[in-house]
Amino acid sequence: MVRINENYLRLAPSYLFSEIARRAREYQAERPDARLLRLGIGNTTEPLAPTIVQGLHAGVDRLARRETYSGYGDEQGDSDLRERIAEVKYRARRLEIDASEVFISDGAKSDTANIQSLFDPYAAVAFQDPAYPVYVDTNVIAGRERFVYLACTEANGFIAPPPTDHVDLIYLCSPNNPTGAVARRETLRSYVEYALAHEAIILFDAAYECFIRDPALPRSIYEIPDARRCAIELCTFSKEAGFTGVRLGWTVVPRNLDIDRGNPRSVHELWNRRQTTFFNGASNIAQRGGIASLTPEGLAENARTIDIYMENARAIRDGLSSIGLTVFGGENAPYVWVRCPPGLDSWAFFDKLLREAHVITTPGSGFGAHGEGYLRLSAFGHPENIAAAVASIREKVRL
Ligand SMILES: Cc1ncc(COP(=O)(O)O)c(C=O)c1O
Repeated sequence: MVRINENYLRLAPSYLFSEIARRAREYQAERPDARLLRLGIGNTTEPLAPTIVQGLHAGVDRLARRETYSGYGDEQGDSDLRERIAEVKYRARRLEIDASEVFISDGAKSDTANIQSLFDPYAAVAFQDPAYPVYVDTNVIAGRERFVYLACTEANGFIAPPPTDHVDLIYLCSPNNPTGAVARRETLRSYVEYALAHEAIILFDAAYECFIRDPALPRSIYEIPDARRCAIELCTFSKEAGFTGVRLGWTVVPRNLDIDRGNPRSVHELWNRRQTTFFNGASNIAQRGGIASLTPEGLAENARTIDIYMENARAIRDGLSSIGLTVFGGENAPYVWVRCPPGLDSWAFFDKLLREAHVITTPGSGFGAHGEGYLRLSAFGHPENIAAAVASIREKVRL
């Protein structure tokens, strides 16, 4: 009998979103007249920008003609798209990234999950706590056991400083899901210094960089000097271009990382090998949409959609603060992190908002032990629905 990979049995049960759905369903059955309002989900809601739609249509049209039809593309991605990303996201910001270092993916989730496979199964790994659950879970599946959880608290602005002990891999997400916190330049610099000193690698998840409004905040790890010696960056079109369903992202794996000198093959070579073995390239239609999204018109149209979500975030922050709740995030990120009132844990406050205001949120405890005592509210939603949810909390919740 073949045995299963028992590392899967070590995973914590992933019950967060199913438990939210169960509680919402039960309440709806109790109160069929109640209209439930959602502030819980990190999924985009606004339609694609017109320039992107044209790009996608053009991608389909190319497939319809014998002269322009294409089948499999390069596993690493369309060279025009790689070049456009290198230009718009990095070189235009004076960051030294070559198109050959940009690998196109079907979204950041797959790459954030797969990237750890390049490293030693005995590597020690640091995670921010709370964090996007994919980081920990994929390392558990890989059989790793040496984990360091970096506590993100009000005292450190929800971005923990680097570990004090040695680790080999460090996951960092800024702007952060779930807290909405953004790492300042000095903090990222301390991580880069740590990584260089420990010959560690930073896995920098920049999925929400497009929401950063404050020009002083770094949008890429490569804004920190020497980061290209020790950092891999993961990014996506999901949130900036509404591609959550279209599926397109990229990962930057610099050539000449410091650790390459001590290893028989470079990390860049290994990622190329990994992708050409496990992945057959992103959809050629989606990649045409990605190219359109990075034209001046596409970028301007996307910025208007991002404004809608950021206005939602402001409405959530203002509405909740006005009734005396303490809120964090939401200024350079689409997530607002709300402190639970005294005496209520994450699930108790979730239930209170569900029952009193009919609003569905996400308990912070679902993202790690240090998420306990908070709720994540998402600014992804149609503005009228967000406004209705905020009004309902303001009018009906008794603190
Ligand atoms: C922090 C973070 N990273 C990565 C992703 C994955 O994005 P996608 O796979 O849609 O590119 C998400 C999705 O919500 C996320 O919150």
